[in-house]
Amino acid sequence: MCGIVGVVNKSKKASEDLMFGLKQMEYRGYDSAGVVFSKNFNTYKSIGSLINLEKACLHNEDTIGIAHTRWATHGSVNLTNTHPIKIGNFAIVHNGIIEDTDKIIKEINYKPQTQTDTEILLAYFVFLRKEHSLEDSLQIIDQKIKGSYAALILEFSSDQIIWLKKGFSPIVISETEFGYTVASDMEGVKNPIKTYEINSNGYGIISNSFVSDFQTFKKNLIIKGEFSEKTTKENLFHEKTKSHNTWLEEEILEQIKIFENEKSLNLKKDFSVYHNVKLIGCGSSFFAAEIGAYWLEEENILASASIASEWNISDTPTFDHQLTIFISQSGFTADTVSALLKAKKYSKTLALVNKKNSPISNNSDQVVLLNAGTEKSVASTKSFSSQIIKLFQIIKGTLPKNIEEKVKNIFKIDVEKIVDNILKHREIFILGKNKMSLVAKEGMLKITEITYLNVFAYPAGELKHGYIAKITEETISIILAPEDPVLLQKTLSSAQEIISRDGKILLIASENYIKKDLFIKTDPMNYDEATFCYTILLQRIAFKLAEKLNRPIDKPRNLAKSVTVE
Ligand code: M6R
Repeated sequence: MCGIVGVVNKSKKASEDLMFGLKQMEYRGYDSAGVVFSKNFNTYKSIGSLINLEKACLHNEDTIGIAHTRWATHGSVNLTNTHPIKIGNFAIVHNGIIEDTDKIIKEINYKPQTQTDTEILLAYFVFLRKEHSLEDSLQIIDQKIKGSYAALILEFSSDQIIWLKKGFSPIVISETEFGYTVASDMEGVKNPIKTYEINSNGYGIISNSFVSDFQTFKKNLIIKGEFSEKTTKENLFHEKTKSHNTWLEEEILEQIKIFENEKSLNLKKDFSVYHNVKLIGCGSSFFAAEIGAYWLEEENILASASIASEWNISDTPTFDHQLTIFISQSGFTADTVSALLKAKKYSKTLALVNKKNSPISNNSDQVVLLNAGTEKSVASTKSFSSQIIKLFQIIKGTLPKNIEEKVKNIFKIDVEKIVDNILKHREIFILGKNKMSLVAKEGMLKITEITYLNVFAYPAGELKHGYIAKITEETISIILAPEDPVLLQKTLSSAQEIISRDGKILLIASENYIKKDLFIKTDPMNYDEATFCYTILLQRIAFKLAEKLNRPIDKPRNLAKSVTVE
């Protein structure tokens, strides 16, 4: 993943624009970050938060520089592997993956100083430049280097930045009041006047000698590559409400508004024309896909869900009338993009995405926008709810009656003491039946990614087939038990099996059927209503747990908001 940004200004110093770009693109990774400026080739690097990097480099007066925010793929998180990476008079920042690095290393007889594939790309460029012109060198790289990447190269004291792009790693080039900015995302450009997105493999330069003439810029600076004007800068970043310290808390709360806005919308589609519906996503979006498959099968439509990265490598049976639904908050998830490209060959495609202008929305036959608004915290909360809202609306029609009231009441539940109690246990289990087993999985992912605790989720009926071996008095099992004539009793039987083995129970239901241990009382609700409401309750529990453990809630370790590598 990673975010890259390069700035060529005529007179204004570049550091502010570079730092702006890095901050806006932290969703692409935040393991470490770095900047290099052209004139004196000064490099600044930091691990984690951008504050120190900003302090160190803001005073730099240079008008040209490149910068990077990293999500480590090759090599551990340390300053040596942090970009920019330099060889002689050249520095590089890079997003994506270079394949066959061993072959390149052999070919050019190079001794790497870092563990990164990035260094090998630069080493190859430096090697080529000894014998070839800039354009020829870039052309050879374009033809020979395999992978999916976007990179910027800066030469010491140069007034231009070289860019290279292959595959899905995005690059936009914007004209600004002060010069040009090249970045992974338009969000990373401060005050763009006009932006061009590079739509194909390609390479070129941005230089301040073309600042006043964009036509010349287009002719001369995109040496190879197709591009199109990008007009919509989505307003990804809203002001943080003062009363909340984290985006996550704010985004969980925003769901009240989302349910109010969505409650009477009916987007029902006719799925009976399809012989088979496949739903595909990653992470939370995959759990949304699984819930969607349940709802479709309730409507007598043959449906199943797959994890994108698995489905991509599987033999896929094809049907005459097939619909494949792609679910993604960002619309940029590389595994899901690949799945879409595979499915397009034989299936109609429908995307459920939050971002209008994204590879997934742009490549699908039909698009349903989630309308969740910007989601900044790495953990999906309101976007997950919006995904299941949209699935419900297209499969069943309007949301369950009074759902917004029931959602509001979920926020009245005090989870503070419950969370203290959960923390006394070594392991957390979440279980339920039918869609509750999927709500459990989503709850498990939420707790895992923001607290790092040991959490397991499984369908209640599976307890006796193996999981029960783990139950002791040190485990707490969260039992999701909404109203249902058949499922409730079966769920409670599983709870009894746990109690018989001294395991602790936290029951979530409208009545304390078990009459002991911990209990969260909700409004009476059926399985569909609970799919929405219990999800939010588990999000609130996950948040409180993370807060008590003092975790970096919005940016959990090792993660990134948008996973743009396969
Ligand atoms: O942008 P997408 O919905 O395609 O992202 C998919 C997953 O990476 C995402 O849901 C991830 O699992 C979240 N961090 C979960 O909270």
